[in-house]
Amino acid sequence: MAVASKNSNLARARDAKQDEFYTQLSDIEKELKHYKKHFKGKVVYCNCDDPRVSGFFHYFSYNFEKLGLKKLITTCYKNKERDLFSANDTEHAIMLEYTGDKNNSGVPDPNEIGIVKLEGDGDFRSEESIELLKQADIVVTNPPFSLFREFITQLYEHDKKFIVVGSKNAITYKEIFKLIKENKLWLGNGFSAGNAYFKIPPENARNFANGVYDKDTGLVKFRNVGWFTNLDIAKRHEELILFKKYTPDEFPAYDNYDAIEVSNTKDIPVDYFGAMGVPITFLDKYNPDQFEILGITDRDNNSGLKTKEYGPDDAKNHTDLNRRGAIRIGNEYKSTYARLLIRRKQA
Ligand SMILES: C[S@@+](CC[C@H](N)C(=O)[O-])C[C@H]1O[C@@H](n2cnc3c(N)ncnc32)[C@H](O)[C@@H]1O
Repeated sequence: MAVASKNSNLARARDAKQDEFYTQLSDIEKELKHYKKHFKGKVVYCNCDDPRVSGFFHYFSYNFEKLGLKKLITTCYKNKERDLFSANDTEHAIMLEYTGDKNNSGVPDPNEIGIVKLEGDGDFRSEESIELLKQADIVVTNPPFSLFREFITQLYEHDKKFIVVGSKNAITYKEIFKLIKENKLWLGNGFSAGNAYFKIPPENARNFANGVYDKDTGLVKFRNVGWFTNLDIAKRHEELILFKKYTPDEFPAYDNYDAIEVSNTKDIPVDYFGAMGVPITFLDKYNPDQFEILGITDRDNNSGLKTKEYGPDDAKNHTDLNRRGAIRIGNEYKSTYARLLIRRKQA
């Protein structure tokens, strides 16, 4: 085999491995209890899950009657061994179908679960998987983070409801942010204190920095992971209580955006109705009846609020400034972190 192709095989294997971490049942339960009303009479599809080991399959099969589901479909990617940590080295995938407790044992029994060997590898983009997706009402899973954009795009192409785990870095991806801005996608309730713990194959432990992997529990800790959904939840209708008064000193105007800088979501001024830049974490508190999302600070002018582009004569760090909200202090410019540009809706 040529060296280049050998290297790209290795890179593929490494990327695939970095997608191998598994959602804990307790986290699935904590999030999904907020969506119960949505599941009645629905077909749920977990399309990145080995059904024999997935916490998602476990949750839906054991709560099938309680949720009033119509059908549960689960497919895995390549892996067909009964081993949570297989290296995805089997090309054929399997599909499992469950339509509820038929023998009144109160639990899903093996003889109630239909197992079908798929023709292909179970890739969520394959024709076979797309045919299953078409049957589904709601997709619930933790998809490979490296394919998040494609995964979400496919769900919208097929007009599906979903609850999925993903890196919050995805919020700033153009395709994903557009959906958030248009109120077609939002964040779910989230992991406890913003920390998500996932199980990983033990041999992947060496890929993580110190303090991320706990060898006693076999769990890795990710700080920037959340749930993404397009199903309505109560949190989305909770009003953020505001108490601070606006002063130009505390909330300086940007030099390059027609907006003010609010560096802490809890400090959004109660008496200000113009455009404001807030941290991305604002999305955890976002109620579309209270606020409107106008854009995000970036190179382009997606908000229509950008007033200026800097050049080398303005500042050494002009390229950085052009990606951010900039605050002018004397003759110096200070760039802020990535900001969402928002506005209060009048009560
Ligand atoms: C982050 S893991 C989560 C696994 C499981 N959904 C869970 O939450 O425990 C992502 C899974 O997607 C699988 N996967 C990778 N590429 C895939 C693809 N193209 N289509 C479907 N699944 C894929 C991986 O094998 C991996 O098990």
